[in-house]
Amino acid sequence: MQRTALVTGGSRGIGEAISKTLKSQGYNVAATYAGNDEKAAAFTEETGIKTYKWDVSDYDACVEGIAKVEEENGPIDILVNNAGITRDAPFHKMKLEQWKQVIDTNLSGMFNMTHPVWPGMRERGFGRIINISSLNGQKGQFGQVNYSSAKAGDIGFTRALAQEGAAKGITVNAVCPGYIATEMVMAVPEKVREAIIGQIPVGRLGEPEEIAACVSFLASEEAGFMTGATLSANGGQFFS
Ligand code: CAA
Repeated sequence: MQRTALVTGGSRGIGEAISKTLKSQGYNVAATYAGNDEKAAAFTEETGIKTYKWDVSDYDACVEGIAKVEEENGPIDILVNNAGITRDAPFHKMKLEQWKQVIDTNLSGMFNMTHPVWPGMRERGFGRIINISSLNGQKGQFGQVNYSSAKAGDIGFTRALAQEGAAKGITVNAVCPGYIATEMVMAVPEKVREAIIGQIPVGRLGEPEEIAACVSFLASEEAGFMTGATLSANGGQFFS
């Protein structure tokens, strides 16, 4: 039976690797994106994976978008909440808007996307919710009070919802990537990035495919006994 997976932020960065990996494993994959039409079109051209444009921080847009995805692809069995943004600044310089944008996207976005798919998963007795949190939600990061708060919230969301899904065949897990070679990490000033790499025992940034491998395991039928877990992939930078 071919299962359908929806990956938010699934046409770029870590999300792109997740979409491609799930497709290569035989899942029927759809991806959302928020802004970059050109990249999304190139991604669909290359992979054949359909993309849908909406902002995960907008609840009504999620309800509408998910209805369309399900109409065209069938019920969503696997939801990967990957979409995320950074608005880094030391706290004394952080604007309310930077706080709100990151909380609305990285934390409320998880509610907005999961809430509409949840009743269907409960009815069908199967579901996989995979939430992309972060190393920086586990340990906190200078310059990321907003992002660390949202990503720590994602772990709480995962642990609470896992308990509610367990009796209905729905697993809810989090993956915490460390520093991965994507545009998001490349946007960090070079000197800061070099210092960060110096703190990674493996001695390099991670690859998006290394996060996709974690997601693919959590999506599988075999992972049914694993729920509420936090899977860390950070090159040994932090253990929790
Ligand atoms: N610890 C302690 N002090 C630090 C520091 C750190 N990690 N980083 C900077 N500082 C200090 C600086 O030395 C400086 O001190 P002085 O004023 O005494 O000289 C002070 O903080 C201010 O630094 P800047 O002038 O650089 O401040 P800024 O406003 O230009 O930039 C910043 C600050 C935006 C936080 C910048 O340092 C930065 O981008 N840091 C990286 C943040 C980071 O790791 N982001 C992760 C993005 S990737 C991601 O989020 C994916 C994921 O999940 C892992």
